[in-house]
Formats: sequence, structure tokens, C-alpha cells
Amino acid sequence: MCGIIGFLGNDALANILDGLELLEYRGYDSAGLAIRRENEGESEVYKCQGRVSDLRGIVPTEGADFSCGIGHTRWATHGGVCDKNAHPHRSGKVTLVHNGIIENYADLREEYELEDKLATETDTEVVAALIDKLYDGDPKKTIKRVIKKIKGTFAFVIMFDDKPDTIYAVRNVSPIVATTTDDATVLSSDPAALFKYSKEYFVLDERIILTANRDGISLEDFDGNPVEPNYTKVDWDVSAPGKQGYPYFMAKEIDEQPTCIRRILSNYLVNNDIEFGFGGTLDDALKNFNRICIVACGTALHAGIMGAQLFKKWTGINVDTEMASEFIYSDTTVGPDTLFIAVSQSGETIDTLEALRKAKEAGALCLAILNVRGSSISRVADYTLYTDAGPEIAVASTKAYTTQMLMFYMLALKSGLVRGTITEEYFEEATSNLRKIPDAMAEVIGQKDAIHKLAKEVITASDLFMIGRGLDYTVLMEGALKLKEISYIHSEAYAAGELKHGPIALISEGTPVIAAVTQTHLISKALSNVKEIRARGANVVLIAKNELKADFSDEYHVIGLPDLDDEYMSFPEIVALQIYSYYVSADKGLDVDKPRNLAKVVTVE
Ligand code: F6R
Repeated sequence: MCGIIGFLGNDALANILDGLELLEYRGYDSAGLAIRRENEGESEVYKCQGRVSDLRGIVPTEGADFSCGIGHTRWATHGGVCDKNAHPHRSGKVTLVHNGIIENYADLREEYELEDKLATETDTEVVAALIDKLYDGDPKKTIKRVIKKIKGTFAFVIMFDDKPDTIYAVRNVSPIVATTTDDATVLSSDPAALFKYSKEYFVLDERIILTANRDGISLEDFDGNPVEPNYTKVDWDVSAPGKQGYPYFMAKEIDEQPTCIRRILSNYLVNNDIEFGFGGTLDDALKNFNRICIVACGTALHAGIMGAQLFKKWTGINVDTEMASEFIYSDTTVGPDTLFIAVSQSGETIDTLEALRKAKEAGALCLAILNVRGSSISRVADYTLYTDAGPEIAVASTKAYTTQMLMFYMLALKSGLVRGTITEEYFEEATSNLRKIPDAMAEVIGQKDAIHKLAKEVITASDLFMIGRGLDYTVLMEGALKLKEISYIHSEAYAAGELKHGPIALISEGTPVIAAVTQTHLISKALSNVKEIRARGANVVLIAKNELKADFSDEYHVIGLPDLDDEYMSFPEIVALQIYSYYVSADKGLDVDKPRNLAKVVTVE
């Protein structure tokens, strides 16, 4: 949450603005930057409520000689959304940007009598004021002193007026990544803003002070010992991170899914086996654990819920799935007998990270399924499987979900094989089904226009329900989240059999309902539930396999899906729901990629 950037090099203003645009998906309530010319002291601060495009309208137009600066895109926590609460915050000689939450800001304000130095309601300004108050000419010493007094999560990028061409950074939990080239040194909260400069970057460790100046970057720990950065290299295609002709990143990312799935399959399906690497030690873990706990948030949690179903189906193992935010403070016990699986696109979600830490402390073996390499969660997990879906820029997750889901299919199948709960023949058949998924997804993408037509019918709806049984219900949970977050239509998924126990009271004449009936053994039951809501006036769109489309077309609008075996229908099904949600949002004229109140990376609890 919140994007932060620090830049040293020529044309700093343009570079900071471009970097902020790439980080804007982390928060877009307001934007700001502080910038200075070579050898100059006090920086110029520009900030405003709104987007980076608004910030572009208030910065100097002739900025080529700026050589150093910091920038921020905000997702508001403390203090309303307004110009003055935007970052950077300046106090005396100190200017800084912050991502995170300072929990004891009110105590610090009182203890150090900072009230007179404050002009905003933010927790961040208190830190700027405190650093300035304790500043004795030695930035690193002062930063260390202040950090020791702070409780909370933070990534700070800081400039001091009397240290020209120098930027300092320090963090706790909230990430900072950095890179340096012959021409520039760049710090960011997210590698996305670094790829323009280099495919190699390092993650700043906690309790390390980073100093960036014209000579590059140096690191030292809190005892003053020098520390070497540990660079990671990404092999994503980072050459064209733009929309490539699509109106929104979400549209592009939906279309990328068949390629992402193919990439994972080619990485992990080796000679008709599934190989995770790690010298086979993960296979041993899958064989021996009798208890699995899967924890994640939002879309990643939905992938985890699918994972739980698959583990149960193919191994019979007892699996708990919990929301990370609930797991952290619950009495749930995990221990050395547990395989704990954390799922996260960003690898930075604080709820998931804290849950993982709790599981690790309790002695569980910790596996992470992540997209972003080198992220905080990967540094805590014992094993990390990467989905390598490439940067996901749209706030609403699409390719991260399907790639996470595929990881669970492979983990559950491999577990079944090594535990002997599925036969080699079944495993072989399953892997041949996995290979069919990309084409099936591509086929649904080819039906965009037909799905768009159906989406048009609900753009004025206030509520929409999605119903299904078994794996359909699990996929619909994600479909309903997609629709609500980008279209602002209230949408909920219900297990079709549960409707009559309460939710059916919400159905009235014209209520839009999407009903998925792709699970052969559940079709007749699910259809009975569809009839029940039709009898009460619901307007039903059916999602069914193509082989059954003709049977239903007289009675319903039908989205036909390629005829995969039931277990694998989740992939084409979610693509149809992603496309549907996308068009509802786009047709309503909303900002599909940046829905209100959300941010891509959630680093506050
Ligand atoms: C919804 C969405 C969120 C994320 C959730 C977890 O489209 O993207 O629900 O899935 O915030 O984020 P990660 O996967 O980064 O941990």
C-alpha cells in the first residue's frame, strides 16, 4: 500500500513521475514528490489529492536539471484524503515519504512535544518532525535513534536539506527494493518501478540503513557494520510493461492467462511427472504431512479454497483454509505436524506475512505460492513456488488467481501420487487434462463479444448473485469478488443448496443471477436450485459445458465452456467471469484498473 520512490540521476523529475505512475496501483488517493537540483539543499515539494496525472499538472514543466528526489502515491490510512495529508512531509531540514503505519504516533507526538511542528493529521508527519527534532548533523545516527522509538510498519525514504544528492532509506515489514546503474540509483516499494533501469535489484533488509548518493548505494546495520546487497535477477519480459494497445491492464492480463499457464506447465511438467525441484524434499513433505493449513487473503484465498478441495479430493488429507487476517489472532493451532501454505501475488500482504510468521514460530513447515520474486513472504517461507505470471498491474487479480490455482492442482496431484491415493494412470490422465487448460481458456477469450453482450444487461443492477455447487461454488466466490470490486455492483456467491436456508429471500422479479452447472454429478441438484429462483423471478445466465449448451439454450442465456473433465472446468469458468466483470465495469465507465478505495498491495492490517 502506498508507492514510494527515490531517484538519483539526470532528469530526476521525469523519472520520479514515470516511476510513480508504475507504482500508482499501490494507492491512488493522492500523489506527491520532493525534488532538488544538484548540490542544492532544500527541496521543492509538490503534492495534491488525486492521481499522478494531477501531480503532473502542478510540477515545474522545465525540470531537466533536477538530480535527486523522492515521490509517493498514497492509500490513505491516518488523515483524510486531501492535499496537505499527501506525502512527502517536510519538517525543518527533513523531507520524507512513508509506506506503512506508525502505531505509536500519538505517544511520540506527546512525549517529544511535536504538536507545534505538525500541520497534518498523518502518522508520517510525526516521524518527520521527530527526526528533525533529534537531528544532530548525522542522518544515519538520527534515523537509527528514531527507528528504535517507532512501533509499527514502515518504509521510509528520507532527504536532509544539508546532505545534497543523498537519499536515506530504512524499513520494517513494508518493502523497499533498490537498484543502481551507471546513470541512476533508484529505490522503490516495488520492483515494477525498477525494471526500466535494470532486471537486477535487491530487497533492503530490515534494520539496515541505505544511503544512496552519486557513488551508488551503501548499506549498514544498526551497529554500523557495512552490509552487502543481495541482488535478485528477474527473468520476466520487462521490456513492455505498458497496456500494449489494450484499454486497461485487466483486459491485457485476462488475455495473458493461457500463456502464463503454458509457462508454468512447461516449467513443472517434466516427462509426465510434476517436479517442484528442491531435491525432492518438498515431495517428501507432501507425502508425510497429514495436516495442511492454507492461509491467504482475497483472490489468493479463493485459490487456496480451491486448493483445499483438491487436496481433499486427491489425497483425503484434512485441510483448513483461513483468512490470513483472522488466522493471525485466532486460537488456530498449527505445529510441527502441519504443512502451512501461504498464497500471495505480491508476497507483501501483511496479513499473510504475519500469518506465515505465526505458523513458522509454531514449527510448521512453510510453503509459499507467490508471484513476485524476492518479496517479504519468500524470505520467511521454507519453500517458495513461483507462479511467474509477470507483473500484474490491474488491481483486480486475474492471472495471479489462475496461476495460483494451477499450482494447487499440481501440488494436490503430486501429493496424491506420492501418497498412493491416486494411481499412476489417474495421474497421467490428470496431467493430460492440465495440458488442455490453456487452449480452453483461449477459447473462452475468443467468446468475449458474446459475454460482453450479456454483461451489458446488468450494468444498472444493484445486486447480482452467483450460485453453484462443488467446485463451481468455489470459482463463483472469485467471480463475485471480481464483479463487486470493479463494478461496485453488490455480488455474492452462494452454494446453490444453501439458498433455501436464507439467501433466497433476496431474489425477486428481475434479480440477475449467474448459475454455474459444470459439475456433472451435481447438475441435476444445481438445476433444481436454478428452477427455484426462476420461479421467484430471477433472470438467470447459465454457465455450462458446450456439450449441454443446446439443452439449455431455449430456456436460458448460456455461456458455453469447452468440455474439459469436470475438475478442470474452473479455469475456463473463471475466465468467463473475469471477462463478464471487466465489461460491466468498462461499460459503466469506471476505472477498471483502479477501483475505488482499493490498492494492489495491502501492507496494513
Ligand atoms: C482482488 C485482489 C485481492 C488480493 C488480496 C491478496 O482482485 O487482488 O483480493 O488477492 O489483496 O493480495 P496478494 O495476493 O498480493 O497477497
